[in-house]
Amino acid sequence: MDNLYLTYKVVHVISVISWMAGLLYLPRLFVYHCSADIGSDKSETFKIMERRLLRGIMNPAMIVSYIFGILMLLELGEAVWKMVWIQVKVLCVFGMTIMHLKMGKWRKEFENDKNTRSEKFFRVINEVPTVLMIFVVFLVIFQPF
Ligand code: HEM
Repeated sequence: MDNLYLTYKVVHVISVISWMAGLLYLPRLFVYHCSADIGSDKSETFKIMERRLLRGIMNPAMIVSYIFGILMLLELGEAVWKMVWIQVKVLCVFGMTIMHLKMGKWRKEFENDKNTRSEKFFRVINEVPTVLMIFVVFLVIFQPF
């Protein structure tokens, strides 16, 4: 592997860590936000934290993860698609992206004081990116099939 490819990988792993940090933390903020009264200082503070996390960290980190992941795919060429693990990984990344978009929608609902979902719902949702992440890391490291 040449240095350019390894540099892509470094940037990819750093941006994936930042993206995951947000995907794991934002639903936790939603859990706490559920118990804050509408219009309270606590609720308004959560709104700021959620907006900054999504816009300042998660959106850019997701974009950079995609760019550098795709750059590596281009370097690897067509042959990489013969490996099943990469196909499964792409499916997991698709799932991660759907979670990201859903979180954006829920954040907007909180911002407009229109959340209807329960604390329990966000506790369960919190586990989805966790499970996907564990699975993806096993896949990329073991490349089992
Ligand atoms: C956003 C779309 C993504 C694309 C297009 C993508 C693509 C890739 C590609 C092509 C590689 C290089 C594999 C190799 O050299 O063997 C790679 C490495 C890696 N990816 Fe991703 N990936 C994406 C998202 C993710 C996510 C969400 C995670 C973790 C949750 C992740 C974790 C990793 C890790 C840890 C490596 C380094 C593996 C190693 O070489 O040991 N990637 N990715």
